[in-house]
Amino acid sequence: ADSYPFHGAHQAGVLTPKQRASCYVAFDVTAQDRAGLVGLMKTLTARARHLTTGGAPADLGVGQPPADSDVLGPDVPADGLTVTVSFGASLFDGEGAQGGRGDRFGIARHKPLRLAPMRIFKNDSPEPAWMHGDLLLQICANHPDTVHHAIRDITRHTRGAMQMRWKIDGYNSPPRPSGTGRNLLGFKDGTANPTGSTAADLVWVDDSAEPAWAQGGSYQVVRLIRMLVEFWDRVSINEQENMFGRRRDSGAPLDGTHEFDTPDYSADPHGKVIPLDSHMRLANPRTKPTANQRLLRRSFNYDLGVDTNGNLRTGHIFTCYQQDLVRQFETVQERLVDEPLVDYVQPFGGGYFFALPGVTDHRDWYARQLL
Ligand code: HEM
Repeated sequence: ADSYPFHGAHQAGVLTPKQRASCYVAFDVTAQDRAGLVGLMKTLTARARHLTTGGAPADLGVGQPPADSDVLGPDVPADGLTVTVSFGASLFDGEGAQGGRGDRFGIARHKPLRLAPMRIFKNDSPEPAWMHGDLLLQICANHPDTVHHAIRDITRHTRGAMQMRWKIDGYNSPPRPSGTGRNLLGFKDGTANPTGSTAADLVWVDDSAEPAWAQGGSYQVVRLIRMLVEFWDRVSINEQENMFGRRRDSGAPLDGTHEFDTPDYSADPHGKVIPLDSHMRLANPRTKPTANQRLLRRSFNYDLGVDTNGNLRTGHIFTCYQQDLVRQFETVQERLVDEPLVDYVQPFGGGYFFALPGVTDHRDWYARQLL
């Protein structure tokens, strides 16, 4: 689509179909006090509203620097832009990456129940410079220049109140030749995602145990996962397909023919057709008790150039949304911990965040009910 509505009960960029380009930017909030944080949220709201709506930027007057970078020309197109704002645990209590800053905004007791610094899982290779953050922006659009224009506008208007900590650009593929886009291991990625009301019911926080302001938000996990693509390209197609449980060409489950065929694990209890340790079977065993552990993935490819050994520094910005970090992401991640795929991927960054509820109208702003 050319544009997505900015106002609503929930933020855009979660159930929104994946755009082609994205960036994930984590910030340290440098605002000194509650008033500074309120100012930051109001500015962020105004910029996101303008950028996602499009139109001519307001003139700042003679003698001022230009109101806009003009990277997108004088009339800013919405271009399918979504800006999704999330808070990290450290914004609430100063714990985690920054440590020891305490409850500087007086909001610790309103922290979403499950929000904590991302855990280090077995087989992770954590790089602190790529982890955590007080605030995360997920910016997605139809073209990469639109993403660049948006982050440049936002950092310009929020300078002094927050500072970039890490940033990674993402992209994804159109259907090739059809169906769901592929990741950099060559497999269609996103096939079995929940859709429609099933997705909405798994994603949005709706729990009286959570703080009132947090209802309608969503827990977001970002995992920066390097792919050892040179190594992967030496693996036989059979072995690759057994690792995922799907065909590489069509995306069909190994017991099916078409991408969206439903695998029948009960007909294959010993994993003769779809291995018991295949990624999709571990991630979602398709049993009644595990149904509420499903999550919504919204991942992109990244490319960071070359490493010191002359290999591609490339991989997967794994992103998922859910109501409950423990019931959904952590349970699934624990099941995947020693899957065969771990030899070909290397998680090194990311974090746990809480995507704020939506901005409902022209008078509302991000996190108004919290602040
Ligand atoms: C399914 C790739 C990491 C959870 C899949 C599929 C592929 C894939 C190709 C099958 C097609 C589909 O349904 O989308 C990858 C790659 C990863 C990765 C390349 C890392 C580099 C993860 C992580 C999690 C996860 C970290 C969560 C902890 C899932 C789930 C499914 C899935 C829930 C759907 C299973 C189903 O419902 O049948 N993944 N994945 N994946 N993956 Fe991953």
